[in-house]
Amino acid sequence: MTLPLYAAPAAPGSLPSAPAQGPSTTPTGYALPDATGHFGAYGGTFVAETLMHALDELRAAYAKYSVDPEFIAEFRSELKHFVGRPSPIYHAKRLSARQGGAQIYLKREDLNHTGAHKINNTVGQALLAKRMGKPRVIAETGAGQHGVASATVAARFGMQCVVYMGSEDMGRQAANVYRMKLLGAEVVPVESGSKTLKDALNEAMRDWVTHVEDTFYIIGTVAGPHPYPMMVRDFNSVVGKECLVQMPEIAGRQPDYVVACVGGGSNAMGIFYDYIPLPEVRLVGVEAAGLGLDSGQHAASLQRGTPGVLHGNRTYLLQDANGQITATHSLSAGLDYPGVGPEHAFLKDSGRAEYVGATDAEALRAFHDCCEIEGIIPALESSHALAHALKLAQTRPASEIILVNLSGRGDKDLHIVAEASGLEFFCRDSCRRASQALTRSERGVS
Ligand SMILES: Cc1ncc(COP(=O)(O)O)c(C=O)c1O
Repeated sequence: MTLPLYAAPAAPGSLPSAPAQGPSTTPTGYALPDATGHFGAYGGTFVAETLMHALDELRAAYAKYSVDPEFIAEFRSELKHFVGRPSPIYHAKRLSARQGGAQIYLKREDLNHTGAHKINNTVGQALLAKRMGKPRVIAETGAGQHGVASATVAARFGMQCVVYMGSEDMGRQAANVYRMKLLGAEVVPVESGSKTLKDALNEAMRDWVTHVEDTFYIIGTVAGPHPYPMMVRDFNSVVGKECLVQMPEIAGRQPDYVVACVGGGSNAMGIFYDYIPLPEVRLVGVEAAGLGLDSGQHAASLQRGTPGVLHGNRTYLLQDANGQITATHSLSAGLDYPGVGPEHAFLKDSGRAEYVGATDAEALRAFHDCCEIEGIIPALESSHALAHALKLAQTRPASEIILVNLSGRGDKDLHIVAEASGLEFFCRDSCRRASQALTRSERGVS
């Protein structure tokens, strides 16, 4: 079952943010997930009985509001006036010339309010929470971008916000922790397991079970139980819808390749979705290869994982022979997740999308190249997509086009890059302390 927020894209007014005339090419012949939330053998709803009612309620609300003209109009208005959409597409001419070969274009999600694609989905879910009468929102976050986006929309719509974050990620992303606190959110450190995104997701699920009456769980990627993978994809598909219109304007045609990094997979699904029915456009997802795909220290669930159940859905997972989730590694917190959205699992098996890896070192090199040659500081997550695009460009003729989803900006990653280069980012101890400063309530401000 595909809901009408997406299902009737050609009809003017039915899209979240496409221009009035709508894209000329529309996704047809692909209608997943099915009514039970399955993408082939993947997806579904694997949760405790206590959450079944909440998920039923959410499915009903999404089914209702995704076709409600008032909801769609408000969503489109927020994307335009609060997020700053549409984001432009930029021809990275100097990088393309340096590489030799295919032309590289960047979809500039880094220019969105809060600095990444994550805000598209959080706006949609916050509007839904408002309609459902839930005054409290919770979220989990890895790189902190989804946490910041959730704290932002909670402030925007006057909701209480609690964000779960692994303590390992809090250390890596101290600036985003401070941002969330400035925005009025409570950030709860998660000390269990590897202290990263998967553990934060577990804690958020636990919170939801106990506060289900007044709480809306804003999941930050295309994972989780049905309807989250579909709903998050739909809200993020504004990215691909814009590209369908913008590419002919800037390049005279659609790209030969669309390349995006894959953590849980929301920026990739956001740009892939409307390209699925165009077989001439190759879809390439780039996972974190960490220290190498064969090093055992990576987060490449699709390339090195096997099917299993995690966080409410069936998908590819990094797990051992007993089904225990194994440790992951990536320089970028946002890609450091042992699972992946179930739709990517389906796209991989069906062959419609291909999945490759970029190592920490390759991502770092692409990060520096983008800074120095194009004057754009990309997120480390997005640098993985860029790293693959740079490699790919060299193997393709100059007549071909590679469109990269530049999913976010790199401000949050400066200290990681500095440390990887052996430099000290914080010039003073007080800067370091400021990044760990107290929340409003801790300071006694009501
Ligand atoms: C900028 C950016 N890109 C990509 C990701 C990965 O998430 P997803 O695969 O859901 O797009 C993150 C996650 O935090 C991110 O912050």
